[in-house]
Amino acid sequence: MKGLHRLEYRGYDSAGICLVNPELTIYKCKGKVSELEHFVKGQDVSGTVGMAHTRWATHGEPNQINAHPHISQNKSLAIIHNGIIENYASLRSELMNRGYKFVSETDTEVLIHLVEDIQINEDIELEEAVRIALNQVIGAYAIVILSKDNPNKIIAARKGSPLVIGIGKGEFFVASDATPIIEYTNNVVFMDDEEIATIERDKPLKIKTIKNKKKTPYIQKLELSLSAIEKGGFDHFMLKEIYEQPRSVKDSMRGRLNADMGIVHLGGIREYEQKLLNAKRIIITACGTSWHAALVGEYLIEELARIPVEVEYSSEFRYRNPVLYEDDVVIAISQSGETADTLAAIELAKSKAATVLGICNVVGSSIARATHAGVYTHAGPEIGVASTKSFTSQVMILTLMALQIAQEKGTIARSRFHQILTELNTIPKKIERILLLNDQIQEIARIYKDVTNSLYLGRGYNFPVALEGALKMKEISYVHAEGYPAAEMKHGPIALIDDQMPVVVIATKKGSYEKVISNIQEVKARKGKIIAIITEGDVTVKKLADHSIEIPETEEMLVPLLATIPLQLLSYHIAVMRNCNVDQPRNLAKSVTVE
Ligand code: AGP
Repeated sequence: MKGLHRLEYRGYDSAGICLVNPELTIYKCKGKVSELEHFVKGQDVSGTVGMAHTRWATHGEPNQINAHPHISQNKSLAIIHNGIIENYASLRSELMNRGYKFVSETDTEVLIHLVEDIQINEDIELEEAVRIALNQVIGAYAIVILSKDNPNKIIAARKGSPLVIGIGKGEFFVASDATPIIEYTNNVVFMDDEEIATIERDKPLKIKTIKNKKKTPYIQKLELSLSAIEKGGFDHFMLKEIYEQPRSVKDSMRGRLNADMGIVHLGGIREYEQKLLNAKRIIITACGTSWHAALVGEYLIEELARIPVEVEYSSEFRYRNPVLYEDDVVIAISQSGETADTLAAIELAKSKAATVLGICNVVGSSIARATHAGVYTHAGPEIGVASTKSFTSQVMILTLMALQIAQEKGTIARSRFHQILTELNTIPKKIERILLLNDQIQEIARIYKDVTNSLYLGRGYNFPVALEGALKMKEISYVHAEGYPAAEMKHGPIALIDDQMPVVVIATKKGSYEKVISNIQEVKARKGKIIAIITEGDVTVKKLADHSIEIPETEEMLVPLLATIPLQLLSYHIAVMRNCNVDQPRNLAKSVTVE
């Protein structure tokens, strides 16, 4: 159960558990893990071999029937699954023709009946039946299978969805990521796609591929600490992660920047640096908040390194048959490293011989392994569904990358290069100063907690910040919010402005500051309420705005690292005041491993 709670951020619409004691005993219900805990109270939950699952529905609504685990028709096999079986419909009809009855609407149930069917028809080992079955499957899966007839054996397999095995003292753990394992062992094996693990009591771990090739398990020591995945005294993981940003941004720079010596060095892409320098074009593909970071990256790389950049939503990029050349460099950004659309975009880019680099936060994640090379953001585990520290860390990595390319290409003067490096070192402290504004921001949130609509405006580097601020508001407080380039407001959205509409304007002193002031005037003329993010000491905008949040001055290109923080806090406090589930907002999951 503790393990399930640690994984709950990945999906929480239903949950279930299966124990081998010695029958396959299954308890499952709709709702969060706490519902399941209540459901099993007083039941027989003995056993030393078992599995559990917390679901984010893909096929079949969230209810008890569709909850995992699913059991085979002869009640001797049980399965839990993360992913999508794309050819489940054809497999299902074939199995129904052979007399199998389905009780759920899930794709997962197909898999366990398929394994049963193979086992019955060929007297073979469980792991061999699973291997044969998986060769018939199209789609993504991370599965665990238990068998009544093999009470001391657990079979696990993955393709496209993550799976980690913990090697403890005389015990094994399997999970979608390391968070439920770390308190028992930090010896882990990250499974690769198309691998099947046979875990047996008192025997060494065995791994082979679905093509029956034996693999030697590569055991890694994880540095993750238990405290890192606890709330640390904060009310929510999201607030903890907002407050971690001085450290997480610093960790993103650690060992990669030396202002005194004028060095920026991202070791993870060393082998591909020449590819980056010679790139005619850089394409950045991502989803959600990571896509917003990609937009900041576009402005940074074009300004500093003078290489054309295109930013693509992964879900669009993967299906529109884009034009890609061998000298293109594709950068995939993903906090979880498991976003299905971004993973697919990577495979597409590789199939067209482009060089693909990753910017991920989860070590050993699928995207980290699918790319040719990459850079870890080192932001630490981000448990809150809303991305906060991973955004600022992604922007930091993109800043360092742009600076490294610019320095190598000679598109930046040494003095300017030094100036920016020196300023980068001040960012963590400046974030700390912004966090001291929390109470003021909470008061502003109190005024606007009941609004139904809001507009976020920014220009230049602050346009992606406006988009990100709006996304935060939408996803955790369920208030409709729209991010827009400030000048674009006149081409439509200005019609929305009235005295009920809060307009958040990022109006920091650099860039098109004067133009943003005109936009603020336009909003005020229509009685809109202005919440302005301004540079410390700016009295001009302060006079115009209904509320001003002052952030420290910095380089224009580094403003996203600072201006985003007050917007994270604003949406956080409004969500709390609206009694929303901040860490697990409705309908969302931390890692969207399905299309
Ligand atoms: C942002 O707060 C959301 N959690 C969501 O948009 C997220 O950024 C998106 O799903 C991409 O996730 P990734 O970075 O793990 O690929």
